[in-house]
Amino acid sequence: MFKINDNYLKLPGSYLFSTVAKKAAAFTAANPDKKVIKLSIGDVTQPLAPAIIDALHKSVDEMAHAETFHGYAPDLGYEFLRSTIAENDYKSRGCDISADEIFVSDGAKSDSGNIGDIFSVDNKIAVCDPVYPVYVDTNAMSGRTGDYLVDQQKWSNVIYMPCTEATNFAPEIPKETPDIIYLCFPNNPTGSTITKSQLQEWVDYANKVGAVIIYDAAYEAYISEDDVPHSIYECEGARTCAIELRSFSKNAGFTGLRLGFTVIPRDLKSGETTLHSLWARRHGTKFNGAPYIVQRAGEAVYSEAGKNQTKEQIAYYMKNAKVIKEGLKEAGYSVSGGVNAPYIWLKTPDNMSSWDFFDYLLEKANVLGTPGSGFGPSGEGYFRLTAFGSYENTVEAIERIKRM
Ligand code: MLT
Repeated sequence: MFKINDNYLKLPGSYLFSTVAKKAAAFTAANPDKKVIKLSIGDVTQPLAPAIIDALHKSVDEMAHAETFHGYAPDLGYEFLRSTIAENDYKSRGCDISADEIFVSDGAKSDSGNIGDIFSVDNKIAVCDPVYPVYVDTNAMSGRTGDYLVDQQKWSNVIYMPCTEATNFAPEIPKETPDIIYLCFPNNPTGSTITKSQLQEWVDYANKVGAVIIYDAAYEAYISEDDVPHSIYECEGARTCAIELRSFSKNAGFTGLRLGFTVIPRDLKSGETTLHSLWARRHGTKFNGAPYIVQRAGEAVYSEAGKNQTKEQIAYYMKNAKVIKEGLKEAGYSVSGGVNAPYIWLKTPDNMSSWDFFDYLLEKANVLGTPGSGFGPSGEGYFRLTAFGSYENTVEAIERIKRM
């Protein structure tokens, strides 16, 4: 008789955003006359920029002719995209990353979930708390997290690094030494950031203890302040300890198109083995490349027109962030984030639990958000709103919350 991977059975409930979607669907079914405004999952609402659409049309036409048709993509990505990324995201910022250290994929969610394949199950992971649930859930699926302790809402074999008001929503170096450290800045869910010198401390620490940092920079395009790093490779020594994950979803609206990449410098080794070679082997075996037309669309993000148009979209979402943040402050909420990230992190009023506030907001204001406790125990008593809605809906949602 076959046996299942029973690590899956240890997972509590369903994936956070599926639970939120189910609750929203139940509310809408019971209240068909109510217009629910969704400021929950971080999904973009603006259409793809014209430069991207042009590149898509052009490459779709190429697929119609034998001479320009493209079959399987190179499994690590087309050279035209990898070199464009290396030039624009790294070399132009003084980061020593070459095109062949970039692995193109179908998005940062898959990469952040799959990267665990190249590490032994014996590694101990450290995560920020609250955290993007994919890092923890996928480690749980591969049996790296121990048991789920229901009373504490924690895994027994995970190092949690609380990111609360007391730590300015940044993690502190943990007492126990981890093997793999997940960092995400600008942060999902809190919208916080760390400075370059703070990140340098993490790089120095990882090199000292022989840990690897998995650095998720999916939201780097939202950075507005000067001392916030866009890439971990801006820090000295990161080539020997860091993997970076990037996405086209949030900077260019590819949530439905799917494109991302992972950077693994060749200097990142365990003994003589490079992690680059392991990921190349994994990618080559389990992945047949992101579609040609999508990689051409990705290339267009870096064209002059693409850069200007996506910048405008980011400004649009950050205007929403300002509306949310200022509006909530006026209404007396304690809020953070929303300056270098499209997420606003608020404290629930009157010590309400995150899920109670979720229900309250949905019922009283018909606004959907994400409960902080869904991101980890230190998220209890907090709530996340996203700036990815339309401007009109965002303004209306905040007006409703103010009247609540
Ligand atoms: C979120 O809402 O946290 C994001 O949409 C998650 C993701 O990017 O997968």
